Amino acid sequence: GQNATDGYGDFDFIVVSNRLPVDRVNTDDGESWRRSPGGLVTALAPVMAKADGAWVGWHGAADEELDEFDHDNMHLLPVPLSASEVELYYEGFSNATLWPLYHDVIAPPEFHRTWWDSYRTVNRRFADAAATMAAKGATVWVQDYQLQLVPQMLRRDRPDLKIGFFNHIPFPPLEIFAQLPWRRNIIEGLLGADLIGFQRPSDASNFLRCVRRFAGHTVRQQQVHVTNEDGVSYVSRAESFPISIDVEQITELAKREDIIERSKQIRKELGDPKTVLLGVDRLDYTKGISHRLKAYGELLQDGKLNVEDASLIQVASPSRERVEQYRLLREEVEGTVGRINGTYDTMGNTAIRYLHHSYPVEEMVALYLAADVMLVTALRDGMNLVAKEYVAARINNTGALVLSEFAGAADQLRQAVLMNPHDIDGVKESILTAINMPEREAQRRMRLMRRQVLQNDVERWSKNFLSALQQGENEAAQ
Ligand code: G6P
Repeated sequence: GQNATDGYGDFDFIVVSNRLPVDRVNTDDGESWRRSPGGLVTALAPVMAKADGAWVGWHGAADEELDEFDHDNMHLLPVPLSASEVELYYEGFSNATLWPLYHDVIAPPEFHRTWWDSYRTVNRRFADAAATMAAKGATVWVQDYQLQLVPQMLRRDRPDLKIGFFNHIPFPPLEIFAQLPWRRNIIEGLLGADLIGFQRPSDASNFLRCVRRFAGHTVRQQQVHVTNEDGVSYVSRAESFPISIDVEQITELAKREDIIERSKQIRKELGDPKTVLLGVDRLDYTKGISHRLKAYGELLQDGKLNVEDASLIQVASPSRERVEQYRLLREEVEGTVGRINGTYDTMGNTAIRYLHHSYPVEEMVALYLAADVMLVTALRDGMNLVAKEYVAARINNTGALVLSEFAGAADQLRQAVLMNPHDIDGVKESILTAINMPEREAQRRMRLMRRQVLQNDVERWSKNFLSALQQGENEAAQ
């Protein structure tokens, strides 16, 4: 990437994220790469192709250095992590300190200085990698909580760059953020960006309160007036940009004959219950899977539901399996599923079809089409794209979405059956409301939700963010 003559790189648009947007696949003739599922890469790949773009990120294996390479019109720069960095930076500081802290301390965050040191070291490496790739005056867009120090590091080394940051997860209230021993470093790290994007307006205002309290900068509405250690002054802004999905991909799949057939087959294989309920989550304690199972189990116990009439498909995709809290959660969820199924299953029907796998998007859409009721019961979630995918897939405007108020998606999907997952009676009522919703009412709600999702896809999200990022420049120039 680096151009030896002037010290600048070759790329005008750089995305930096913990993971590269590709997965390794092993075939007969060796290994190759495949684009990862997910909206972010869909939104950014066209921008990359047009703007001479490069993506900087970890390729997912420890102790392995790879050369930069090209993959479907994107230039990729793999950042290496040692086995100990995977443990301290990724599993430790990112996913056992920041993740639980930012999700309302559902699990207790751990604070270890060795983890913090590694976080700093790795953030430095990502910042250096991005700086090597970036042409003079390039735009660099840094993604998510794993890389919150990168904006400031980059700005120090490369004041010519336009720097954006987007936080995909919640930003916690000041009273919770205050626990973090390195709270000021994180705030200053983020303030290196010209524009800091959040999912919900409340995330942006939580952040701005923390800026005032822990960094002492002047905050005017969404603008922070920063003077850094070198005495240089600039304005950094914090605003909300709710992320979305690749609507076209989902709706196209939802119209495909083979996928519609598959959705019917799924129902049949479940023993053709009247109602199919569906949960799709990474196996993460933020998702409220235990609360959902508790409510569902009680409905069976109360006789409000029975396994001939209703069946729950719970997809729990494996995630962060070496982190203690995730292991504990798996034990708990699988114990609960076993107890419920042991009590209520018959030879022909099951209460919960539990699947600890991840699936390709085609199978996901078949599941969305098979499900009369989608359950999203997150205790805290930055956005929750599964909710939006379900809505996008329901091209016949049928089906009902039960949605936690604690997911960012609740800001957009107002016609869902909104509920508080901590209120188990409320969850039970919401599930019954969704199952028994009159067809016309369900159609009215789904139509309104689909309008919202179809008009605000992920491409629009990235355009909004990137144009807001460029606007700052115009204001400064005037
Ligand atoms: C969340 C985070 C992402 C992360 C993803 C999967 O959506 O916001 O940054 O990549 O979970 O988690 P993993 O730890 O496997 O990357």
